[in-house]
Amino acid sequence: MPVRVGLIGFGTVGRAVARLLASGRDARARLVRVCTRRDGPARPDWLPATVDWSDRFESLLQPDIDVVVELVGGIEPAREWSHRAFLAGKSVVTANKQLVAEFGPELVSLAARQRRSFRFEGAVAGGVPVIRAVQDGLAGDRLVRITGILNGTCNYILTRMESDRLSFHDALEEAQALGYAESDPTADIEGLDARAKLAILCGVGFGIHVRPSDIPCASVAGVTADDLAHARANGCTIRQVSSAERVEGTPHMVKASVGPAVVPLDGPLARAHGCQNVIVVDGEVGGETVFAGQGAGGNPTAVAVVSDLIAIAEQRHRLLSPSCSSNVEANWPSLQPSSSKGSDSHA
Ligand code: HSE
Repeated sequence: MPVRVGLIGFGTVGRAVARLLASGRDARARLVRVCTRRDGPARPDWLPATVDWSDRFESLLQPDIDVVVELVGGIEPAREWSHRAFLAGKSVVTANKQLVAEFGPELVSLAARQRRSFRFEGAVAGGVPVIRAVQDGLAGDRLVRITGILNGTCNYILTRMESDRLSFHDALEEAQALGYAESDPTADIEGLDARAKLAILCGVGFGIHVRPSDIPCASVAGVTADDLAHARANGCTIRQVSSAERVEGTPHMVKASVGPAVVPLDGPLARAHGCQNVIVVDGEVGGETVFAGQGAGGNPTAVAVVSDLIAIAEQRHRLLSPSCSSNVEANWPSLQPSSSKGSDSHA
């Protein structure tokens, strides 16, 4: 039996998820219903006739839905909808970084109480499966530092300024035309988008809930083509860098920041081009591990969302199997009080 999916939100990522599910590429997840605003987009021709089209969130709470995919963004009503979905016995998949950064621990707890799943791979670094890699693949280590390029728009702008000496303004317009930037690019440029993702990584990687508003940000808007040329003359370039590290000896403390920083050309951060994201994690035991790939755009993020759905389908399959004795996982390692903040040097 595939998991039966109800999707709310039909923007760039929502459409890409619907297309991927409608392609029938994987039988483990089936799109049953799409929900949009009454004054939202029209039903596209390519959507199979078997998929319902609704303007009522309540339609996703019907018994024919197993998983609600929330791709609307913002805190409310996404938080309320997630609560209602869990209480109605649904699992929830989201790519909503603000929701997960602010209310991840609350939603993980509710999901665990309801014995359902809450997955959010698409909320951080688009198509780079860093959440699952940190949760599962590095579970045996103790992470001490996370550094990364977590905003595709800023990386696109900076690399276009660098490669073709575009002005900041022209490079931003290109990024918007390609659908990387948020509708209001302030969140990208000022670092608010990246700090929400960094806060999620702190939760998953350190088990510490850091409030996004506690992470200091500096804007990339002041970076000029001359700054980039100067950095290059010194074997470096400029990137929007997000970094967080544990403060040893002080439990639950994290030093974190987001902003433009000079990075060496031969390091992993400088190798991110266009809207790519890179995440470098340092573990006490295993040392440095680097994850990289497409950090923004409909299709890469849709792959993350659909992979979460397949993980839920596989988990349900195991739960229904008579040989299995485990129950639903809780994805957030622990629920700790908020950290304090810190700052790093910026360009
Ligand atoms: N605006 C975001 C970015 C989209 O550029 O990275 C993906 O979260």
